[in-house]
Amino acid sequence: MKKFILTIAGGGSTYTPGIVKSLLINKEQFPLQELRMYDIDGERQDKVAIIAKEVIKEFQPGLKLVVTTDPKEAFEDSDFIFAQMRVGKYKMRELDEKIPLKYGVVGQETCGPGGLAYGLRTIFPMAELIDLVEKYAKKTYWIVNYSNPAAVVAEAMKRLRPNARIMNICDMPVGTIRNMAAILDVDRSKLVVDYFGLNHFGWFTKVMVEGVDRTDEVRKHAIKHGLLVENMSKVDVQHSDKSWIKNFKNIQYMMELFPEYIPNPYMQYYLLGDHVVEHMDKNHTRANEVIEGREKKLFDAVEEYKNTGKVDLSSFYVGVHGQFIVEVAMSLAFNLRKRFLVIVENNGAVENLSNDAMVEVPAYITNEGPEVVRMGQIPTFYKGLIEQQFATEKLIVDAALEGSYEKAVMALTMSKTVKSALQAKKILDDLIEANKGYWPELK
Ligand code: NAD
Ligand code: G6P
Ligand code: MN
Repeated sequence: MKKFILTIAGGGSTYTPGIVKSLLINKEQFPLQELRMYDIDGERQDKVAIIAKEVIKEFQPGLKLVVTTDPKEAFEDSDFIFAQMRVGKYKMRELDEKIPLKYGVVGQETCGPGGLAYGLRTIFPMAELIDLVEKYAKKTYWIVNYSNPAAVVAEAMKRLRPNARIMNICDMPVGTIRNMAAILDVDRSKLVVDYFGLNHFGWFTKVMVEGVDRTDEVRKHAIKHGLLVENMSKVDVQHSDKSWIKNFKNIQYMMELFPEYIPNPYMQYYLLGDHVVEHMDKNHTRANEVIEGREKKLFDAVEEYKNTGKVDLSSFYVGVHGQFIVEVAMSLAFNLRKRFLVIVENNGAVENLSNDAMVEVPAYITNEGPEVVRMGQIPTFYKGLIEQQFATEKLIVDAALEGSYEKAVMALTMSKTVKSALQAKKILDDLIEANKGYWPELK
């Protein structure tokens, strides 16, 4: 059986140990010749590698692990690259979240002005990563990309690197499907859903379980409880934090008003913006929750290793996040034609949206990439919202590529989260100050 060389780019990510474990759980079906971790922050990556090494010791002793900041060493002859870089790390995420909140606007890492700011930081490093992969990896490489903001990254890479073999994915749909499966008391692999939208901006239209349409049961639950399930922590650790519980609960308010389709949890930032802002702690956002939670737990385990030589393997978790990226890679590697929700160029998948939009829809994943499932026409309300959001994303990519301040003001003004052009300008000016050294110059 063919063995693969796989590189995790953003090796210092808090998610790396979970992804490594997920890969090794699947070692029989997806055998690795070599695993590599690549990051531009060697110090951070070395810490995470302590945990990754222990996972290898536990699940596949003998597997070669390369931990490097050298692109040649990282990508030479690689078959798969899992990309998960966070440009600016949590320090910048915190500012993305807190600056808009100062103006009473949603502060979120991928939605609203914060997401646009993160986009402006990520577009060029992502293109550089693709260039390094093109230079060193096998010609048949696949980049499976989690790096956020995935919608902006996908739009920008479509324009900047149209021939890249990149599959942009998000774990939120599969996380939402996991909750639906728990509500229906079946395994998530049994669910086949229809869905349309952009990344972090879409709706489920149908939930099938083994040929039976069970959308109505999910709808009824969601109208009463949102997509909260009893004992979230049993279902997934990440999404059981306080802010995620609120998020899944808020689906209830959207469903009461618009019961036809089931929204992606991220829709709360656009449809319930004022409510969300009112219930957010402006001094303690999700970035703080993650720094004090997921990241601290991991780095505490590293410290403990330095003192005791022992590694606590419960300091991280796999979750749908770790499972999903490996499932997608296996479908690409072995032409499994599994059906997943992924981010692809529209080309008619949603009939009444523009062909060049980067939409999130179901697709069968083959060894040549995604075969998109057509979702047909969508109603005016959803179409209008999506077009506004797609225009926002296009404008921020224009701003980056043209170095245009005006386009950046337009992007923030276009975002449904922002009240006026004057407000957009104020937030943008603060973000420019905070992102010095990260953003292209905007003139
Ligand atoms: P993290 O800060 O713990 O890790 C990110 C790592 O990326 C850091 O070690 C950083 O040094 C590194 N990095 C930054 N710029 C880089 C570059 N140019 N090249 C290589 N490495 C670089 O972040 P995290 O919370 O673990 O998340 C990692 C990424 O995955 C983020 O982009 C996050 O938004 C994304 N994510 C996406 C999804 C999704 O659904 N698409 C889900 C979860 C996380
Ligand atoms: C979901 C989204 C990701 C996002 C993540 C943030 O899984 O799909 O795109 O990066 O949440 O999670 P965090 O725990 O870092 O807030
Ligand atoms: Mn996502």
